[in-house]
This record gives sequence, C-alpha cells and structure tokens, in this order.
Amino acid sequence: MSDPSAVVVAPTRRLQGRLQVPGDKSIAHRYALLAALAKGRSTFLHFAPGADCRSTLACLRQLGIEVTEGPSGVVTLMGRGCGQLCSSVAPLDAGNSGTTMRLMAGVLAGHAFSTTLIGDASLSRRPMRRVIVPLEQMGARIDATEGHAPLVIHGTRLRATTHRPATPSAQVKSAVLLAGLHADGTTSVTEPVATRDHTERALTAFGGRVAVDGLTVSVTGNQRLEPQSFAVPGDFSSAAFWLVGAAALPGSRVEVEDVGLNPTRTALLGVLRRFGARVTIDTTISEAGEPRGRITVEGDRMGALEIMPDEVPGLIDELPAIAALAAHGGEIVVRGASELRVKESDRIAVLVAGFRALGIAVDELSDGFVVSGPAAGSGRASGGVANADGDHRMAMAFAIAALGAERPSTIIGADAVVISYPGFFDTLSRLVA
Ligand code: S3P
Repeated sequence: MSDPSAVVVAPTRRLQGRLQVPGDKSIAHRYALLAALAKGRSTFLHFAPGADCRSTLACLRQLGIEVTEGPSGVVTLMGRGCGQLCSSVAPLDAGNSGTTMRLMAGVLAGHAFSTTLIGDASLSRRPMRRVIVPLEQMGARIDATEGHAPLVIHGTRLRATTHRPATPSAQVKSAVLLAGLHADGTTSVTEPVATRDHTERALTAFGGRVAVDGLTVSVTGNQRLEPQSFAVPGDFSSAAFWLVGAAALPGSRVEVEDVGLNPTRTALLGVLRRFGARVTIDTTISEAGEPRGRITVEGDRMGALEIMPDEVPGLIDELPAIAALAAHGGEIVVRGASELRVKESDRIAVLVAGFRALGIAVDELSDGFVVSGPAAGSGRASGGVANADGDHRMAMAFAIAALGAERPSTIIGADAVVISYPGFFDTLSRLVA
C-alpha cells in the first residue's frame, strides 16, 4: 500500500530559477502575538502559511482575539491590549510548534487566569523547563510533567527578573521578554551567545521600548503597544534549502527574492561561500526593522569546512540543510550542536539514519555530525528511502540530499513540510525543470 506521507524525489544535475519563499515563521509568530497585545486592528501581508503559525492564530482566537485570514497571506487581528486576553476553558493546542508553546507561556504567565497548553507527540517530548524556571521566578506557577507539556500556566501579576539562560535560545529570551511586558519593573535577559532578535525588532516596530546592551536585552512592564500593518519577509530558513541545493550542485543558479536578511539569521551565506559557492546579496528595503532583499547563489566547487560551536546559534535551523550541502561531494563537520537533539525530532539521529539510507557517508557525533559525500566506492549517492520522522526540516534536507543520487529516492513523512513550507515540493519540481 502506498504511504500518503511519502514523496518521490528524482535526481537532477542542477537547480535553476527565481522564486519567492513563504513568509517568515519566526517573525509571523511574533507579529501575531504582539498584535494581540496592541489594542486595535493590525494587518499583515505575506503571513507565514505553515501549520505552526496557524497554531499561534488558533490559540489567540481561543484567547478572545478576532483573527481574519484573507487570500494571499493577508491576516488581520483585533488586539485587546497587554494583559487583556480572555481565559480559555479548553486547552490551547500548539501542535508541532515550540515557538507557539514557549512564547505563549510567556504571555499567559502575565494573565491572572489558568490556561492549559498542549502539543503533539513531538512537542510533548521537548524541554520546557527552560521557560518554566524564569516564568516561575517572575511569580507564575506552571504545572508540567517532568518538564514537558502539557503545561498548565497559572498566571498572575508578575515581578521583573534578570535571567541568564544556560543555552542560547531566542524562544526562551522571547518568552521572558513577553512576560516582562506584564511585570512591574525592568526585566532583562543576558544570553551566552546572540540569538535571532526578531522579538526585539518587532517590539520596537509596535511602539514598544526595548534596550539592547551587548548580549543583554531589557523591557519594562506596563507599556502600551500600537497596532501595525506590515508585510512579513520571506523566510530565510525556507530559502536555505534552495540556496544549499544550488551550492551543492555545481552549475546551478537560484535567485530568491524578497527574503529576510536579518543578520542574526543569515550566517548560512558565509558557510556557502566557505564551501565554494558564489553568493550575491541585494538588500532592497527594510520594513519594521527587518531588512530584506534578493539572494543569488551559483554552485561552483565543493569544499570542506567545519562549523564551530559558537556559530551554531546563528545556523540552528539551517543545520539540516547544511548537512545536505556535502551530500554530493565535499565535507561538512558540525560540532557543539546538541540542541539539534531536542528539535522537532532528534535531528542528529534522524539525519544519520536518513543519509545512510540514501547512500551518503555520515558519522554521528554526540553534539553534531560529519557528512562526506557519497558513501565509499561510488561517485554518486545511491538514493533510497529516508524517513523524516515527522520533521519538516529533515524532509526538506533529505529532498535536497536526494537530488544528486543515482536513482529516485522516497522521503517518508514528507508531508511534514506543511509546518513551514506547504508548497516546497511544487517549487522543487519547478526548479529542476
Ligand atoms: C525560534 C528559535 C529557535 C529555532 C526555532 C524558532 C524562534 O529555537 O530553532 O525554529 O522563532 O524563536 P530555540 O529558541 O529553541 O533555539
């Protein structure tokens, strides 16, 4: 019987074409949450179409926010103001989305009612203590099962805190800052290494006050946010798969238009250059503090490179794609990336099993991996059947890795691309044509 989750990927010599990618998932979550906390109507264009941001919108509806989803990614929210969300008796379902659960926990910690947050099997395995600890420090009470969802958030009037997370995480930083909007005094987060700063930029764009001093970000409570209308830039992390595909298949040329170029997200471009690709960036505009423009990648040579631990936070969502960079030749070593084991899947284990199944040489490290082209003895990867384990980024990484193989490959669980990139396989067929 055929598996409805599976997609067959045929080999190709190169990728060629110009495209746009869906709206940025990280930015869209933040715009929706801040719009709910800004009294009045906010409208967003090119809102992220994936299931993760749908989960955030569905949770907000349950908290009394009127949300309208129009054609072509237009989303309108009627915000209620900081601390003004309504309680929901029914649990809020964050689905597969870590960002929804962690950021929503921060917002709900400052609302004086109790809310249950649930997620799918993958999200229910992911660590939540990293948000529970600082939010409890601020005065909320959170019930969990050994640090995992379901979470019951007992919100209250919060007190400000100073938090120094042990692991760099934009979700943790954002959860604490969103709680800080509902706290008396100034709340600060000092990160060990800088992470994506969309929350800081979005807060400013909504008329909020945020102070950034090196690795410390602070907000004061009792601020008033103003509703806004913005277009969401294309998602750099979705574009990453095409940029890597172009770099990994010499002779390719891919242009991605209107994609986010926030410097906390674009470290991959330096990696592609180190690998041997030609990368051109044209910054066209900046909206709501988020630069965006066109990226062109032309594949040339296949190099060998090592990603060092301090580079990992800037590449965290691109590491599955980066693994595919060396699927057809060259070598990639990644270390200091044990966070990959607590993403939508254990991305190190899933990657190793999937690449081996496709005939690609890969070694597993406790905190990373080594990918070194087609398995010994063959000029090209054999192709085969790889299981994405329900993880959207693994499905896309396997698809790119399968492009240089000898024969068609099957990606099991490829339907997971709906989480961030519903049209991924349609675009793939266009770029190989
Ligand atoms: C995200 C932060 C990162 C990233 C995730 C989205 C965000 O997670 O991997 O896909 O939108 O803040 P961590 O905060 O766990 O590093």
